[in-house]
Amino acid sequence: MTHIGGEVIKKTDPEFQILVDWVTQGAKFDNNTNLPPAQKTFGTDVFPLIQADCMGCHGNGNNTFNGGPNQAASYASAVSNTNQTAGMEDMSQLLQKAARSNNTTHGGGTLWAVGSVKYGVVRDWITDGVNQ
Ligand code: HEC
Repeated sequence: MTHIGGEVIKKTDPEFQILVDWVTQGAKFDNNTNLPPAQKTFGTDVFPLIQADCMGCHGNGNNTFNGGPNQAASYASAVSNTNQTAGMEDMSQLLQKAARSNNTTHGGGTLWAVGSVKYGVVRDWITDGVNQ
């Protein structure tokens, strides 16, 4: 078969075999679901939430939890309020205070309700191993 663009992939190229395999497996569009999901990090995912929702009452360690503005201090305080034992992430004080879950009282009320996007982001960050 002729192709105006010429020969782009040779039969001996590894890319050719990748295409053959893809066609053989049904030429599926999998939306990149084979790729590992991105890991949550404190700086990108969690610190912005803490700044927006917690800093007002927890600036510079006020009320025992340090929300910032120093990011390293905020990270250390957040990590010290996590439970990283597999299956125990929801018992993290960071989540229990913010969600008032498991009958936890919190002077700041409910900010990240259980099941909310924010709760999920912070929970994923803990599950991922509290990346900085
Ligand atoms: C309106 C003020 C207010 C806001 C906003 C607030 N908090 Fe609090 N928080 C408090 C007060 C007051 C305490 C201390 C009394 C208590 O434990 O409920 C506290 C305590 C805590 C503690 C316990 C610290 C310790 O070691 O005893 C954690 C953890 C915490 N908050 C996390 C958060 C997080 C996370 C957010 C943001 C999602 C947040 N708080 C937002 C007022 C607030």
